[in-house]
Amino acid sequence: MCGIVGYIGDEEATPVLVNALKKLEYRGYDSAGIAVLGSGSEGQGDGEKRSLVVRKAKGALKNLEQRIATEIIRGTMGIGHTRWATHGEPSDVNSHPHTNVSGKIAVVHNGIIENHAKLKEWLKESGVAFKSQTDTEVVAHLVDHFYQGDLFEAVRATLDKIEGAYALAFLCENEPERIIAVRKDAPLVIGAGKGEYLIASDVTPLLEYTRDVYYLNDGEIAVLYRDRVEFFDREGHPLTKETTRVEWDVSAAEKGGFEHFMLKEIHEQPKALADTLRARIKTYAAKTINLEEIGFDASWAQAHRVVISACGTAWHAGVVGKYALEHFARIPVDVDVASEFRYRDPIYDPKDIFIIISQSGETADTLAAMRMARKSGARIIAITNVVGSTLAREADLVMYTWAGPEIAVASTKAFTTQLMCVYLIALKFGHLRKVIDDAELAANIDALEALPALAEQLLGKKDDIQRFAARQFNKTKAFFMGRLFDYAVSLESALKLKEIAYTHSEAFAAGELKHGPIALVDESTLVVAICTQSALFDKMDSNIKEVKARGATVLVITWEDEKYFDATADEVFRIPRTLDALSPMLSVIPSQLYAYYCSVMRGNDPDKPRNLAKSVTVE
Ligand code: AGP
Repeated sequence: MCGIVGYIGDEEATPVLVNALKKLEYRGYDSAGIAVLGSGSEGQGDGEKRSLVVRKAKGALKNLEQRIATEIIRGTMGIGHTRWATHGEPSDVNSHPHTNVSGKIAVVHNGIIENHAKLKEWLKESGVAFKSQTDTEVVAHLVDHFYQGDLFEAVRATLDKIEGAYALAFLCENEPERIIAVRKDAPLVIGAGKGEYLIASDVTPLLEYTRDVYYLNDGEIAVLYRDRVEFFDREGHPLTKETTRVEWDVSAAEKGGFEHFMLKEIHEQPKALADTLRARIKTYAAKTINLEEIGFDASWAQAHRVVISACGTAWHAGVVGKYALEHFARIPVDVDVASEFRYRDPIYDPKDIFIIISQSGETADTLAAMRMARKSGARIIAITNVVGSTLAREADLVMYTWAGPEIAVASTKAFTTQLMCVYLIALKFGHLRKVIDDAELAANIDALEALPALAEQLLGKKDDIQRFAARQFNKTKAFFMGRLFDYAVSLESALKLKEIAYTHSEAFAAGELKHGPIALVDESTLVVAICTQSALFDKMDSNIKEVKARGATVLVITWEDEKYFDATADEVFRIPRTLDALSPMLSVIPSQLYAYYCSVMRGNDPDKPRNLAKSVTVE
């Protein structure tokens, strides 16, 4: 949801900023821009006196790159932005950086200034002329309003006025030695290089320059110089902060020979699943699951209920979690999308266990749900992929998915590893509650350990899905249906197809179709029936016959050795066999591939689907 970057050092800032923005483009790609303190080719700056030069362009970053290739800016400090539009259409003028009237103060912003309308009126009354429709422009004018020769104090005074969520970075022509950055409810990381400091919305753009980073907390202010960075609280008191060493492999954030990040990330699932599992399986007398990281001990037996909250794909992982926890641990589970949970006056019990799931750990609604749940005194477990994210830092206990950086907007490996985490919790909990005995636990652990190799086998058959997509990608309507775990996977499958192929797709509990949605089924409909729950095959078979009778084309996704649906389905895609209750970690993969191939065949960019952003840090 917008990416911001900044650089101060001895290198030319423009290529560093553009390079960093490339790594953040997944956060928004409606427009991009940079502001550099230096000299522009059109004559701003005379080589001695440096002036603030801004370049912006609507659309993808490559448009900005084309502009700066001819309109060169020289200078060794600057800030940059890639936008996901919230206030004002995508356009050159609404692109960041925004400047004050004189063009001497520039700001980039990720988030929303909620009281911008009131501030805008107030500033207009004092004669300020606004250029854009954005909420951000008020910040530039406010800093100007308070500026009396000290950018730091002007920023602090501005923070007293603004409400909402923000990561902001400022540059001022009169202060060519420093960049100022602040955050509240939006991510911001500072990279500490040798003789250079950088700012970014996440760590990936920093890895080329440094592995030592500072995570800024809400309300903290960073002042970056070429040779040091200083931290302050909102009142201006100095703070001491430690760097964190990032161990991510740089190549993990590159495409590695794949055409798109999404395809690469789909293929990384066997390794990601193995990584998620590895640290958690221990062999003492027998194999067991170790969840010390989330404080799993006998006291969990007192829990009355598990509550899961998340958004989008992570919520779908929560739906699988409900089925898994109820099945393996026989404990009641409530699962809710975070944007509903936070406003629906939920009933708390201090003995509840809250599981909050988020790939990025920065989703605004999910963080709000977590903060509400905390007040209830319940135990908060975060499942996240991003070390150092706000969720990871604020939750009581964290279980990392260890999927590695997920760049494509449509989540794939983050989902399957989130599933692995909820299964580990469900099995451990079931054993503690004596719902499953040692032998059953061991059998499930064996099955989990076999999954990475099975996922690899399944990916080996991706051409079958590609061929099917080649025949179906123009379908305008696709329904996914299933029962129990297969219903949860249908939800995720339909979302994938919506997100990147822009196909109208819906998910249904298969038994629910005849209560209304079947009215939509006709010859133009593709129905994907996910059939891994053996006890319900006859029910699924009836549902398939019902939609076929209305003209639908039916793809069945089922076990490799299963013949049940051969007579009814138009096509069967077979996945390697695992236990029925563990099926989601495999059965979702064909849908990920199908969505990917349809997206490419329809001429879309699966990594950067229209209107979306990877991390939704606004409500
Ligand atoms: C996944 O494909 C989506 N892009 C989206 O639904 C995502 O899962 C959701 O925004 C939650 O993100 P999070 O996991 O980073 O909190």
